[in-house]
Amino acid sequence: MAASAKAISLEKPKPPGEDWTVVLPRRRKQKRDFRKIIECELQKPGESWSPVDLQSDPESESKLMQKMQSYIEKLENSEFYQAFIQQIQSPEMSDHFHKVLGTAEKMQMVIYGIGSIESYEPPRIQLSLAILMKRKFTWIGDVEVFDPVISLTESKVLSALGCSVLSFNEQGRRQASKPTLFFMPHCEAGLYDNLLQANWGVLMLNKIVLFGNSFEAYEQISSVCKDPMCGETQRHILAIRKFTKEFPINPMVDDYFRTFHTSSWHFFGIGHDEDLQIVKL
Ligand SMILES: C[S@@+](CC[C@H](N)C(=O)[O-])C[C@H]1O[C@@H](n2cnc3c(N)ncnc32)[C@H](O)[C@@H]1O
Repeated sequence: MAASAKAISLEKPKPPGEDWTVVLPRRRKQKRDFRKIIECELQKPGESWSPVDLQSDPESESKLMQKMQSYIEKLENSEFYQAFIQQIQSPEMSDHFHKVLGTAEKMQMVIYGIGSIESYEPPRIQLSLAILMKRKFTWIGDVEVFDPVISLTESKVLSALGCSVLSFNEQGRRQASKPTLFFMPHCEAGLYDNLLQANWGVLMLNKIVLFGNSFEAYEQISSVCKDPMCGETQRHILAIRKFTKEFPINPMVDDYFRTFHTSSWHFFGIGHDEDLQIVKL
């Protein structure tokens, strides 16, 4: 995201979960690796990518791995996780998952925008949830992860946890040629919009399950926003709303509120291409 976009975004109403830009100054104080952030901002669509830091050491990897294991264990034993799984297994939601799966045996998982699991707690909890889902449901296939801020240590730990780290910044534009669960907790609106734009056709949209910021919340905010530029990065999000079935996540307790507030599951049930063509973009 360009620096100018950050400045503008502070003036606009944002759905909860998109306050990342607001807390940047605090992150700077926490000695975030500036080179990584600059690198991220300079990324061009579809550019090959590798972590900026070229070194990692076994001690930091093992420490981070232990930390992740304890987060996974804590989450697995939480009331929040039990309710989260029950929601997926509810007849209505499992029906949607089945429709997306169709005749396929597996649904691949693509994780975008997880953030830094070394530096922050929400990314650790979000990754733990994705890993627990993969362990629980046999219908979840390979897990791929991308965030331009991932460090070499994080990349190694992600691989040890069974995820493949992409070496290509897709800018969220992966086309769902097969059933795909996009796990995108608290990403910027532009990334969801890129994903929808790249999949703007009945066949692909019907192969997508999307976990991320509530599209309903984006719609509510854009309906009260007076700035004509307000919906600019959300055109596809707003246009897909009427075809979207959304299931909100209940973060339940304070422990998980910060990590999952205003998050939802989204399914796109579209009958015909004509329906999409008449949508105003
Ligand atoms: C608002 S932060 C959310 C981080 C984390 N999920 C959380 O809740 O704290 C958005 C994340 O999206 C990442 N991001 C930006 N461009 C991306 C891209 N092209 N592909 C994947 N992730 C991207 C950023 O680096 C950042 O970590």
